[in-house]
Amino acid sequence: MMPLRAEPAARAIAKPGEAVEIAPGVHWIGALDPTLRTFDIILRTANGTTYNAYMVRGTDGVAVIDTVKAEFADDFFARIESVARYDEIRIIVLNHLEPDHTGALPELMRRAPQAKLYISTRATAMLKALLKPKEDKAPLAFETVGTGDEVSLGDRTLRFLHTPFLHWPDTQCTYLVEEGVLFSGDVFGCHYCDTRLLNDRCGDFRFAFDYYYAHIMRPFKTHVMDALKLIEPLPLKIIAPTHGPILRDRPRRYITRYRELSTSSFTDQIGNEERSLIIFYMSAYGSTARMAEAICAGAEEQSGLRVSLYDLEGGETQPFVDLIESADALALGSPTINGDAVKPVWDLLSSLAVIDLKGKLGASFGSYGWTGEAVRMIEDRMRGLKMRVPVAGLRVKLIPTDEELEECRAFGRAIAGAISSGEKGRVIDFAELG
Ligand code: FEO
Repeated sequence: MMPLRAEPAARAIAKPGEAVEIAPGVHWIGALDPTLRTFDIILRTANGTTYNAYMVRGTDGVAVIDTVKAEFADDFFARIESVARYDEIRIIVLNHLEPDHTGALPELMRRAPQAKLYISTRATAMLKALLKPKEDKAPLAFETVGTGDEVSLGDRTLRFLHTPFLHWPDTQCTYLVEEGVLFSGDVFGCHYCDTRLLNDRCGDFRFAFDYYYAHIMRPFKTHVMDALKLIEPLPLKIIAPTHGPILRDRPRRYITRYRELSTSSFTDQIGNEERSLIIFYMSAYGSTARMAEAICAGAEEQSGLRVSLYDLEGGETQPFVDLIESADALALGSPTINGDAVKPVWDLLSSLAVIDLKGKLGASFGSYGWTGEAVRMIEDRMRGLKMRVPVAGLRVKLIPTDEELEECRAFGRAIAGAISSGEKGRVIDFAELG
């Protein structure tokens, strides 16, 4: 079905071919993509997105901050031309090199060849991969910058903040000192397209803001917290992200929201000081379930460890993802059916990409009839998610005997021991010893 919105909103601020002044000498020169419904394959958007780029004019030239996706380059250049000449552009700041913000960069460099690029210290290799400079041509004119570095436009100063992994290694933010504008890249952005452009004018986008955080920033919570330490002390009038509304009305609300979303407040509130092991299982005939119960019993012998046992068949994935995020270890049990772990197990594992699993422990177990590949497959996936797998997976053929259930209890004790020893030092993954 054709998306709606053939008519621009009656109170449209973003109009074709016109830059929008958001602060004195600061213009939005981005592009609207109202028909987009899926971004980067994984993200949905109910009314499209925007690719926000900005221009800052000083007494000593013009800076362009980020560009737009290649297909929207014409809109971007038309908006630039409405407020500046290309020969005035001295500075191009790239806060993030993903193609939705650098698609128009090669053409911008062709039109403004005198401009120098400013990128984060981690962006150099990506920039070269993006532009593929020819060895027989002049070298790329770029400078790497970090927190506190500044570049002057005469009466305007751009100050850089090193904010890596939000959500790529290369990301940075840029602060316009004299106007209190933070050009934040994807941080504080969302996929939400509204020609009214400003947060106090456009529709209610709170769901899109949280959704974007959950899918893009959540895996990098510790980096978000590091970035907030740099951002929170800044005098701020406007946050200007690369997607979605420009946050000029009470911009600090969005910083507060990021802090809330990045803090495991629920864990803090219930005062759980214990280490935590979550055991999930799927079971076709009850054998993997019995293994899970025995593993749980073994692990529970460890004091100071809270052990939880859940049948994946009886729960929704999202609350389980939240549980795993605040747990120290995850044990996952699956029977082997047709040479594979069962689908709910893969669904759970594939949902874990949105949280930071680095350093968490993983373990796998399951009953099988013929070949029993599921256990090793789950372990491999756990390692792929940067979990450590300190105890070799446990498989039982068909129905567990009393001896095998005792093995399960010992397996639970071994996982519990690895969790507690993790407090003292590095846990060795048995795969490293092979
Ligand atoms: Fe909007 Fe990470 O690019």
